[in-house]
Amino acid sequence: MNEVESKIAIVTGAVRGIGKATSSRFKREGITVIETDLLPDQDKRETYEELLSDLKNQFLIHDVSEENSWKEVVGQVLKKFGKIDILVNNAGIGTLQDFEKEDERGWETMLSVNAKSIWLGIKSVVHAMKEQKSGSIVNVSSIFGASGGFGMSASYHASKGAVSALTRNAAVRYAADNIRINTVSPGFIKVLREEKTIEEAGDNMSQGIISRTPMGRWGNASEVASAIHFLASPESSYVTGAELFVDGGWMAT
Ligand SMILES: NC(=O)c1ccc[n+]([C@@H]2O[C@H](COP(=O)([O-])OP(=O)(O)OC[C@H]3O[C@@H](n4cnc5c(N)ncnc54)[C@H](O)[C@@H]3O)[C@@H](O)[C@H]2O)c1
Repeated sequence: MNEVESKIAIVTGAVRGIGKATSSRFKREGITVIETDLLPDQDKRETYEELLSDLKNQFLIHDVSEENSWKEVVGQVLKKFGKIDILVNNAGIGTLQDFEKEDERGWETMLSVNAKSIWLGIKSVVHAMKEQKSGSIVNVSSIFGASGGFGMSASYHASKGAVSALTRNAAVRYAADNIRINTVSPGFIKVLREEKTIEEAGDNMSQGIISRTPMGRWGNASEVASAIHFLASPESSYVTGAELFVDGGWMAT
């Protein structure tokens, strides 16, 4: 299949974690993926150079919290491929700060990177998707957008609640344009944190996480990628505005 016949997908935050697993899954399914992410700090450039050599020029530097950056990315993709079939709004940041420790700057950064980015992402691609009369957008939220969690990470909870609410609103707004918009909300997923998985790093919440997760284990990024692929693909053609929890049963308790 050549690139014109292939589905064209943008995956944000694609250099690691859930974004990387999603991009790999999409590629295995024959989807052409444009991977986007921030340019990392100088001290992490070496790893980045290795990644870049794997990405075969399908990588774009992108700050999802900046509208101009979205314009640049979407413009380049449309110029090269002429369409955008799928957008996965995956990039995000986290924090453990609770209500009293959070400060105004932290709050604003969190809401900007995790929530404003979803609005900007949808806004940036819907014009092309409306012209195509088709499109699928998957927003990555969290169980913390729909639960009180451990009573920490106040701004993160607020940002993910916004992702889920905005998904439902956008799904209604664009349903008649045949653009489906859904959320995947992961529970606790093993991803690298400073070269260790959270599980290996043995953070304080680890035991609490496992004991409160009915399936009694962490999830894998590939398990989230499967759910994202389902919602991005025609397999879910009558699903829009939905929130699919990939959480080992956390939200069922
Ligand atoms: N890992 C989990 O347990 C978990 C649980 C629930 C939800 N999530 C959500 O899944 C998504 C992916 O998380 P992950 O665990 O893979 O995280 P991660 O930190 O491994 O990867 C996130 C990626 O997003 C990128 N990013 C951060 N800010 C950005 C910006 N402004 N512009 C562009 N890219 C940016 C980072 O550079 C990184 O490559 C996030 O939205 C996160 O909130 C993760």
